[in-house]
Amino acid sequence: MSLIEVKAVSKIYRVSDEVETVALDQVTFSVEKGEFLAIVGPSGSGKSTLMHILGALDVPTSGSYRLDDQEVGDLDEDTLAEIRNQKIGFVFQAYNLLPRTSALKNVMMPMIYGGIKVKEREKRAKQLLSQVGLADKLNHWPNMLSGGQQQRVAIARALAMTPAIILADEPTGNISGQQVTEIMDRLNQLNQAGHTLLIITHDQEVAGYAKRTLTLKDSRLVADNVNGRQR
Ligand SMILES: Nc1ncnc2c1ncn2[C@@H]1O[C@H](COP(=O)(O)OP(=O)(O)O)[C@@H](O)[C@H]1O
Ligand SMILES: [Mg+2]
Repeated sequence: MSLIEVKAVSKIYRVSDEVETVALDQVTFSVEKGEFLAIVGPSGSGKSTLMHILGALDVPTSGSYRLDDQEVGDLDEDTLAEIRNQKIGFVFQAYNLLPRTSALKNVMMPMIYGGIKVKEREKRAKQLLSQVGLADKLNHWPNMLSGGQQQRVAIARALAMTPAIILADEPTGNISGQQVTEIMDRLNQLNQAGHTLLIITHDQEVAGYAKRTLTLKDSRLVADNVNGRQR
C-alpha cells in the first residue's frame, strides 16, 4: 500500500448547464512515504485541482483517491477536516495568512483546531518560527513582513501539526532570488526529515530539487520522471 494512491481520477467542473470543464482526466499515480515530487505543467493543466484533491479539500468526480489506505471520497466532512488538520500541511502561493494577526497567532491557529493546549501551542509556534529564521518577528502582522518572510510563516503554520504530507502550490510564486533558495532549502530539509513533499511549480530551479516530476498537460498526466528518466 502506498501513502497516496490515485487511480483514474477525473474532475469535471460544471460551470453552467451547457459548460463543463474537464480539469483532470483519468490521472493515475502513487506516492510512497518520504518522496519529494514536483508537479509541473502549463497554466490551466489541472495542477491546483489535483492538489486540492490530494489535500482532501475537494473530491474527484470519478476515480479513486486513497490516502493511508482510506478512500477519501467516502469520508464525511468532519473526517475530511480532521485529515486536513492532522495529516496534511498546505503552503499556498498567496500565503493565505490571516491579516492583522501576528506571525505567532497565525502559526498557532491549526493547533487550536488540533486540540493542543494553549501553552504548548505557543511553545511549538515559537520553535517553528525560529526554525524558519523568524524568532524576532513573532509579533509582526503579515503586512509588516516581506514576501519571503510571509511564505516562511506559512511554512511554519503548515508544520504546526507535524503533518506526514506537505502540499505546496507554487510556494515561490511571489518571491525571487535568495528567498527562493531559502524556502527550497527549508522544504528540502523537511523532506529529509521524513515528510512527503509535493510541490507545484513553474520554476525549473524549484523543480530541480525534487527527485520525481509529474507533468500535467491538458488535464492529463503525460510524464512521470525520476531523475530525468520516465518511470
Ligand atoms: N472552481 C472551478 N470551477 C470551474 N472551473 C475551474 C475551477 N477550478 C479550476 N477550473 C478550471 O479547471 C482547469 C484546471 O485549473 P487548475 O487546476 O487551476 O490549473 P493549474 O493549477 O494547472 O493552472 C482550468 O481550465 C480552470 O479554468
Ligand atoms: Mg494553479
